Amino acid sequence: MCNSMEPSFVTGDTIFMQRAVELAFQGEGFTEPNPMVGCVIVHDRKIIAEGLHQKFGGAHAEIEALQKLETVPENATLYVTLEPCCHHGKTPPCSEAIIKSGIKRVVIAMRDPFPKVAGGGIRELESAGIKISVGCLEKEAHELNAPYLMRIENQRPWILAKWAMTLDGKIAARNGSSYWISSEASRKIVHRIRGRMDAIMIGSNTARLDDPQLTVRPPGIRTPISIVWDSKATLNPESKLACSANDSLVIAAVGPYADEKNITRLRKKGCEVLVLPEKDYLERFLSFFKNLADRGVTNLLAEGGGTLLGHLFDQKLIDECHIFIAPKLAGGQNAPSPLEGLGVEKMMDAVPLNRLNIRQIENDIYIHGRMQYAAQR
Ligand SMILES: NC(=O)c1ccc[n+]([C@@H]2O[C@H](COP(=O)([O-])OP(=O)(O)OC[C@H]3O[C@@H](n4cnc5c(N)ncnc54)[C@H](OP(=O)(O)O)[C@@H]3O)[C@@H](O)[C@H]2O)c1
Repeated sequence: MCNSMEPSFVTGDTIFMQRAVELAFQGEGFTEPNPMVGCVIVHDRKIIAEGLHQKFGGAHAEIEALQKLETVPENATLYVTLEPCCHHGKTPPCSEAIIKSGIKRVVIAMRDPFPKVAGGGIRELESAGIKISVGCLEKEAHELNAPYLMRIENQRPWILAKWAMTLDGKIAARNGSSYWISSEASRKIVHRIRGRMDAIMIGSNTARLDDPQLTVRPPGIRTPISIVWDSKATLNPESKLACSANDSLVIAAVGPYADEKNITRLRKKGCEVLVLPEKDYLERFLSFFKNLADRGVTNLLAEGGGTLLGHLFDQKLIDECHIFIAPKLAGGQNAPSPLEGLGVEKMMDAVPLNRLNIRQIENDIYIHGRMQYAAQR
């Protein structure tokens, strides 16, 4: 909420920025690795133009809104969810276009930490005599672009964990079989999530036991990279995953002692085998995630199994969870559960989810939310 007692904010700022946030969100899945951005132009307390960054490489939100106006009326205010850019990227700088348009006031939800912007857009507008107010619905703007901010500020993708489990918390039966726990309707939702991901990662055991295809069916907005987290390069070259390397990128993230013959076999199948030199798993995770972030991977879906997800959880590397609970029981102390790492010591340390959404999908319950610790980082 904007504090209208603050001299720089005026009544109505929150409402107009709220609309800009809604517009921005329509770009989800299309804009990455760019941020989602929305913009409205207001005159006489009425919205006269709207814009959003529709897709990567396309016009920025401010330009889209400005282009809808033949002339910009005197004393118009522009609301934008992220600091306007001031550099030549895929498109010319927005700060220049705003200055040329004659806009007199710009309300910005949050600064852009992207190093080529980082306050430069605000400075340019201010030096052109434009009145600037920063921080209106800042929290909402941060939440909107949490994946983008994670990549820019922490050099790693935003990590979503997904699993399907029985009512008694099992992600497979005691023989390791997990097809199918959740309903077809739930699985359709999983494919919709996959369709806006940059990458999907599974553990080596899941690759071996389930032989999954990490494809999106039907195809989604983007084609994710398939990743197996596999120290010893044990992925079967005849697996569905390795064979899919002809169609889309498959990465085997292997450790320093991976067998050379296995590596060669996977490379012959067209897989990218990334040999990570770090012996320590956490260091290896971090260097791998940095490698992905450098390639522009903004959203990474970790689909299990429990050992991989458990270790990510222990390292606070899960940012968001998508959980499907089916009304059936599997039992068995040897049947795997979703987070098999060390876990928290005391229940008071259990990590709550915020931005919680709970829905019934046929007879399943679908819960998704963001890890509370993510907000504290
Ligand atoms: N219901 C569901 O949603 C669902 C989803 C996926 C899987 N599953 C089920 O889960 C089962 C497989 O799960 P799983 O737990 O046995 O295996 P997994 O998580 O698929 O594989 C173990 C993974 O943990 C990694 N690992 C081991 N120690 C680690 C450490 N200290 N730090 C970081 N990573 C570490 C291993 O890497 P290295 O190879 O490098 O050692 C490997 O990638 C199967 O039964 C499958 O059907 C269910």
